[in-house]
Amino acid sequence: MSNQRSSLSPHVLIFPLPLQGPVNSMLKLAQLLCLQNIQITFLNTEHIQERLQNCTNNQNYFQKYKNFRFETVPDGLEEGNPRTADQIPNILKSIEVNVLPILREMLGTCGAYGPDSESPLTCIIADGIFTFAVDIAKEIGVPLLYFDTISPCGLWTYLCLPKLIELGELPFKDDNLDELISYAPGMEGIIRRRDLPSFCRTKDINDRILQLVLEEDKHIPLAHGLIFNTFQQLESPILSQMLNICPNIYAIGPLHTHLKTKLAEEKTSSSSIWKEDKSCMSWLDSQPTKSVIYVSIGSLAVMTKEQFFEIWYGLVNSGSKFLWVRRPGSVSGLEIEFEFDEIPLELAQGTKEGGKIVSWAPQEEVLAHSAVGCFLTHSGWNSTLESLVEGKPMICWPYFVDQQVNSRYVGEVWRIGLDMKDTCDREIVEKMIKEVMELKKEEFSKRAEEMAKLAKESVSEGGSSFEDLDRLIQDIKLMKIAANHD
Ligand code: UDX
Repeated sequence: MSNQRSSLSPHVLIFPLPLQGPVNSMLKLAQLLCLQNIQITFLNTEHIQERLQNCTNNQNYFQKYKNFRFETVPDGLEEGNPRTADQIPNILKSIEVNVLPILREMLGTCGAYGPDSESPLTCIIADGIFTFAVDIAKEIGVPLLYFDTISPCGLWTYLCLPKLIELGELPFKDDNLDELISYAPGMEGIIRRRDLPSFCRTKDINDRILQLVLEEDKHIPLAHGLIFNTFQQLESPILSQMLNICPNIYAIGPLHTHLKTKLAEEKTSSSSIWKEDKSCMSWLDSQPTKSVIYVSIGSLAVMTKEQFFEIWYGLVNSGSKFLWVRRPGSVSGLEIEFEFDEIPLELAQGTKEGGKIVSWAPQEEVLAHSAVGCFLTHSGWNSTLESLVEGKPMICWPYFVDQQVNSRYVGEVWRIGLDMKDTCDREIVEKMIKEVMELKKEEFSKRAEEMAKLAKESVSEGGSSFEDLDRLIQDIKLMKIAANHD
């Protein structure tokens, strides 16, 4: 093995699933490693990189780090592909067919980051869904760390699927979704059928998403280590189960808070792929403390037109102020920019008096604002952690993948909100808002503030996430030496 490696600092390739959620958390990890003089090559698809550049000053922001660079590769999809949730299997397939050869070239013997290059790679951090990462890491002789950006509780249900299939629990034998699943070590008595990831409701064992997850299950244990965006006090029963999958785990979250803590006064950079409408911040400034419910379903979830109006009526009838993110394409069959005169008068009136609608918001700032009292969310993992850290209770209306599990944990285990899974009618929306914003306001606020305190302690000096990040950094530096002695 070339002795080049001995002279340079460790060099990590970070390769996220090219979607808003995973890119958000992987960029925060990249910056945390940059701060420790580890060289980072962040591999984005051209599509995502272009959207980041159009909506943020990310490119300039990262220029201050001489040890950080973006690399871009085509995702191989036709330009017009919407890259929406239903496209995820195609995105994965296209990346494997189109990106893998480029990666082999880049990291191979004569590649820009090959063993004899100026900056040979010493480690790969990839999204856990990229099963091909195991082969490529082995080919070039560097350790692979999987970073699954979904929740550990969500990932743990993925890893339980082979056993559930073996026990005949999947596909479900009947339509009783409230039946507890029998095999869920560390989650006993918590997970019902309806709380499993949405793709578990399929009747077809050969379902494309289910098969992708079963493939992922085979590869996760082959990584040198597993990185998680969580903290010990939040998910210790799950993290101890993960140790049976891989002895080397790093629970370093909440990543956005961890980074802010490390940066102290220095600002972080937005990684939005839609333009943020900051007018909502001045609107929030004019609202009383904890009087506003913030509503967002993340970057991928979609609702029907009927659900859209049920949520709208529930918000207006609740009497609470509301800040609603209506992301382009988030309502199937409805162009969001429809004329107000097509809308029932009570909705138009109620929104005029107490609502603010934007197409995309600076969510971390919104959740940190004192006027926000509750978050009606789809339970995406980044959103869940961002709300938890700010001590804001949640009303959870999950859409797919890990969100069903996250919403169950928020409502049933951490008790920092209500689980509105599988329902969407105006009476329930109104009732849940009144329960969180009025009837049980103190109880939810107290629980949420307690959890926020634990989260902040975990990323402070001596905290569990602080220690795990230290260990991750040391291990990455040791990989350099190991590679040098191969
Ligand atoms: C997806 C899955 O939903 C999620 O469960 C998985 O963990 C990551 O991939 P997404 O649906 O986009 O992510 O949800 P989430 O994980 O919450 O990420 C959304 C991100 O967009 C958050 O960091 C949030 O702060 C940001 N956001 C959302 C904005 O910046 N502005 C908005 O208006 C809405």
